[in-house]
Amino acid sequence: MTSPANHLPSPVHTALQEGILVVRIDNPPVNALNAAVRAGLQAAVQQAQSDASVRAVLLVGVGRAFIAGADIREFGKPPQEPLLPGVCNQIEALDKPVVASINGPALGGGLEVAMAAHYRVATPHSKLGLPEVTLGLLPGAGGTQRAPRLMGAMAAAELMLSGKHLSADAAHKAGLLDAVASGADAVDNGLAFVRDLLARNAPVRRTRDQAISDAATAPAALDQLAADTAARNKGLFSPAKIIDCVRAALRMPFDEGLAFERARFVECLDSPQRAGLIHAFFAEREVAKIPEASAAQPRPLQTIGVIGGGTMGAGITVAALDAGLQVTMVERDADSIARGRTNVEKVYNSLVDRQRMTAQAREAVLARLTLSTDYDDLKDVDLVIEAVFEDLGVKKEVFAQLDRICKSGAVLATNTSYLDIDAIAAVTRRPSDVIGLHFFSPANIMRLLEIVVAERTSAEVVATAFELARKMKKVPVRAGVCDGFIGNRILATYRQAADYLMEDGASPYDIDKAVRDFGYPMGPYQMMDLTGGDIGWATRKRKALTRDPKTRYVEISDRICERGWFGQKTGRGYYVYAQGVRGGQPDPEVAQIVDAERARKGVTPRAFSADDIMRRYMAAMVNEGAKVLEEGVALRPLDIDATFIFGYGFPRWRGGPMFWADAYGLPNVLADIEAFAKEDALFWQPAPLLQKLVAEGRGFASLNTLK
Ligand code: 3HC
Ligand code: NAI
Repeated sequence: MTSPANHLPSPVHTALQEGILVVRIDNPPVNALNAAVRAGLQAAVQQAQSDASVRAVLLVGVGRAFIAGADIREFGKPPQEPLLPGVCNQIEALDKPVVASINGPALGGGLEVAMAAHYRVATPHSKLGLPEVTLGLLPGAGGTQRAPRLMGAMAAAELMLSGKHLSADAAHKAGLLDAVASGADAVDNGLAFVRDLLARNAPVRRTRDQAISDAATAPAALDQLAADTAARNKGLFSPAKIIDCVRAALRMPFDEGLAFERARFVECLDSPQRAGLIHAFFAEREVAKIPEASAAQPRPLQTIGVIGGGTMGAGITVAALDAGLQVTMVERDADSIARGRTNVEKVYNSLVDRQRMTAQAREAVLARLTLSTDYDDLKDVDLVIEAVFEDLGVKKEVFAQLDRICKSGAVLATNTSYLDIDAIAAVTRRPSDVIGLHFFSPANIMRLLEIVVAERTSAEVVATAFELARKMKKVPVRAGVCDGFIGNRILATYRQAADYLMEDGASPYDIDKAVRDFGYPMGPYQMMDLTGGDIGWATRKRKALTRDPKTRYVEISDRICERGWFGQKTGRGYYVYAQGVRGGQPDPEVAQIVDAERARKGVTPRAFSADDIMRRYMAAMVNEGAKVLEEGVALRPLDIDATFIFGYGFPRWRGGPMFWADAYGLPNVLADIEAFAKEDALFWQPAPLLQKLVAEGRGFASLNTLK
């Protein structure tokens, strides 16, 4: 019998059904555990305890999630009672069986609630995980103590360190779930499970009372894991604390373990990394909120054309195939299209070789690819992405052809890195259909997609580009037209600052090390060696004629390229790459080239500490970022942050350059720029926006909401 639903003014509703208290958590969109949900859960536990007619409790999430975790928006604010660890303990302490019936994500605090329940069942599409590490945290509501008891200490440690989501099947195998239900409805699944428990008179089974299965072997294995983790997560704060908490689970009684976890959780909560990582979490989602999204609907998007089968064309083709789209790739001639095909097949062959994909699945994907040397084959595609040589003349010819061939309403996109998209659009009779889609290499892996909105691009075309990004699971950042858009323009500026440092006395190896120690995976000169010095050299030669002669120009890279040293692909660049040796070694001959250039320019080398290096590197980045913002090339500071985190290796835990600048203090950034301007006033011109923010005592964060 169903009792009337108890409509509390709360996101948690209870209803008594067959003696089972069904507790529905209803806090859209993902049932995050904010203070009201916690209070609602606490009230439900009290109701279950005090009502003698309640024989068991069933916890379910309403809508698309069980519970996605703590409410991330509450972190950094004063904590509000009741706190989640206490609520979980109360759930576990109930002397009536509590079952969590999971549908969709049960993550972080959500899984902790489920682990505090006595039994767990899930729909097949559910995903379970403890992703707190990705936010600079650790599971702080008993997760570090309960997960080892359910799945073993090592498996729990690995789950928490990876932040990965487990499928229902994997979670079942791991011991986190008692059953995977076949039905899709969490209430039906849960009721069936509870009925069975009651029929069997199954006891209350508290996770806290369970033994850790690998208690004997885990301590030594954890030492090894701690060493690996320290090497892998350089600079990250919470991973080591997670391991400490698992050690505590092995060593301490449950309640002491909980107290230990709480103290470590608070340390993580107070760390600047938590703030940076949570900013990155929201920035990744906020970037898709653009004015055009509400102003227009995307056009249909099923078939894609890609022109060019080189590095980028092939990568974009793979990204589109992976998104389930039908792709037609066009190249100039038979040899080039054969190379294009090989470039695409290489990616899938490697997946098959590594047993990440079956040969059958590869064939199914490749069946959606059409190869052609005839532009006419693009006449029916919904959107075409041009990825031919970076040459305005060639691109204009391609767009004139597309204009002639493509159906009305087709979106015409260019993957140009630097060229003027307005000029490309101008050769067509439909400039409102032209847009920049700037992918990053490797295009099927890198998450960033700069969506470059030209002067006449229509809102519908912008919305379609964002829809493509969504299908491809990219992080789309809206950019305006300028030399290099958001990312490459700012990159060019801080690379220039690095070159000045190098000519003035820092070695390229000092600079790379300082940048790595800041948290980047590699420094600018290592990066140049990876991508190939010839690309930048060609750009510099192209721009030589228009370069302001008053601008300081460092020629060291030119001297290196003149020797044919283009980096890894030629075995030598800023570093030497010996065969069979991983990574490059500093090259004494490069040091001589640098010395010779300094001497030629009459520069007496100075010493720069790592701090000196990073202050200049970051000041250049932030100052150019401010210019990009005031010109409207980027919508908000968070768009610049997302660009650098997802496209340029900026350490995610620092939240992006603009977030970093707020933390460092904008007055400090400005003071640095003013000090450096004494040496080179032309390069170090403070951005008026930066000056304005400092004068008004504001940070970049104040510009993060769209007007
Ligand atoms: N708190 C607050 N808001 C959240 C949230 C959370 N935990 N999780 C998601 N949201 C918001 C998103 O910001 C987004 O808001 P928007 O619509 O205004 O942009 C909305 O919910 C939908 O999220 P997504 O766009 O990400 O939706 P998806 O369907 O793609 O993904 C998800 C759903 C897998 C649940 C994904 O949102 C996710 O991974 N969320 C974070 C999970 C997480 O990290 N949980 C741990 C939190 S820390 C914790 O629990 C501490 C505890 O141990 C004490
Ligand atoms: P690439 O040289 O590897 O490939 C270019 C391909 O275009 C070649 O296979 C060539 O045969 C083909 N091509 C040339 N003219 C053509 C035409 N008229 N019709 C059909 N195909 C034609 O060059 P890559 O690196 O793939 O660059 C392509 C574009 O992507 C450039 O605009 C570049 O600036 C941009 N880009 C490159 C990135 C990189 O890291 N390589 C990153 C982001 C953008």
